[in-house]
Amino acid sequence: MATKVDATAHDEPSNSEPVQKQQKQTVDPYNVQGEVDENGVVKAIDYNKLVDEFGTKKIDDELLARLERVTGKRPHHFLRRGIVFSHRDLELILDRYERGEPFFLYTGRGPSSDSVHVGHTIPFEFTKWLQDTFDVPLIIMLTDDEKYLFSEKKTIEEVQGYCNSNAKDIIAIGFDPAKTFIFSDFDYVGGAFYRNIVRLSKHITLNQARAIFGFNESSNIGRIHFGSIQGATSWASSFPHIFGEDEKETVGIPALIPCAIDQDPYFRMTRDVSARLKYQGKPYAKPSLIHALFLPALQGPGTKMSASIDESAIFMRDTPNQIKNKINKHAFSGGKVSEEEHRQLGGDTSVDVAFQYLRFFLEDDEELERIKVAYETGEMLTGELKAICIRELQRYVAAFQDRRAKVDDETVKLFMETRPLKWGGNPRAPIV
Ligand code: TYM
Ligand code: TRP
Repeated sequence: MATKVDATAHDEPSNSEPVQKQQKQTVDPYNVQGEVDENGVVKAIDYNKLVDEFGTKKIDDELLARLERVTGKRPHHFLRRGIVFSHRDLELILDRYERGEPFFLYTGRGPSSDSVHVGHTIPFEFTKWLQDTFDVPLIIMLTDDEKYLFSEKKTIEEVQGYCNSNAKDIIAIGFDPAKTFIFSDFDYVGGAFYRNIVRLSKHITLNQARAIFGFNESSNIGRIHFGSIQGATSWASSFPHIFGEDEKETVGIPALIPCAIDQDPYFRMTRDVSARLKYQGKPYAKPSLIHALFLPALQGPGTKMSASIDESAIFMRDTPNQIKNKINKHAFSGGKVSEEEHRQLGGDTSVDVAFQYLRFFLEDDEELERIKVAYETGEMLTGELKAICIRELQRYVAAFQDRRAKVDDETVKLFMETRPLKWGGNPRAPIV
């Protein structure tokens, strides 16, 4: 790991602190920030560098073509546009799918506030596409314990309260209750899951945890241990009510984990331990991963949109007016300072936040290309670009809010109940 940070004192990501002189790019579960140059300017996150440092693979055209062949479906626009851009062992999952062997999807959310923001919906939207495409079970972890351990002020009652509203937000993305199990750590830890947590923790030394997450002598020991909880969720044998009691069978069923790339350190660690573990002679399956870029903060592509910095984010409960004001007031512009200059030289779409948001949320490829050309040639001004972005985000958030209004406590109970799931995509999956 090239990037080490002090992960012990952060209730807020580091970009809320005064910008320091020259600093390397930092991306881990607790901090996301591009390189800071000698003038204190934060650069856009360099994702190619992350792929090199983390040792992941880029999703190339060949893999996309295989995905299309295997699933018979046009790749999601996140894949076509390089928003879902990197992976670990995705090929192995496709091999299994072709052979009709079981695997499952696993993702999660740390309930740090009572509403998710538009950035969080990226991995969840993509996960829904994967669930619809592969027709396999999905496990969604709510790390209420993590948010308690990594916050200075939040109480257990607060984070547990956020679990309920965050579960409603996640359900509103459109997951199928027959195939989806959502759980909170405070509620579900125990039994087979706890046995796996302890197995994982036994194989991680303090030195490794420090190297991976940047802990130091003052870090509370709950934080140091937490990775084994997020990691052990990657193992199917943690869920006997879904995959069955026979651990000799279930240790071989791998997870495919969609997430933004900040979560990769947990799973790099879990993959290392999986490679060393056996249950009665049967090897543990390593989880596979598929990584998304961050939706940038309103302030620019140097950091991710974050729930703990209100003005960096558009929340899924924001009103149309709030969305409009946030974009108009805060969205970093790649336009030129004067209209004359802009008309002459054009804008820079690679740093323009309104344009970047359209890459995520405007599904029409041709319309997106038309906007790109118009903005880069100076034909379109920043105000017009922002107006399009506002319209698209208002539409996306309003559609979400309609679905969210229909999710009640009963629905949450249904998704969070420990129960068998039913799925059919895989001929050899245990249909219950
Ligand atoms: P959390 O709550 O910080 O984030 C939830 C998911 O959203 C992704 N994410 C983003 N994606 C795009 N743009 C952004 N600006 C942005 N901000 C966050 C995160 O990468 C994540 O996929 N510890 C985790 C919870 C967790 C988890 C998992 C996540 C437990 N198990 C397995 C993914 C996979 C957390 O606090 O996520
Ligand atoms: N605030 C982010 C979220 O949406 C995650 C995060 C970044 C965080 N740094 C943190 C959470 C430090 C707790 C502590 O969850």
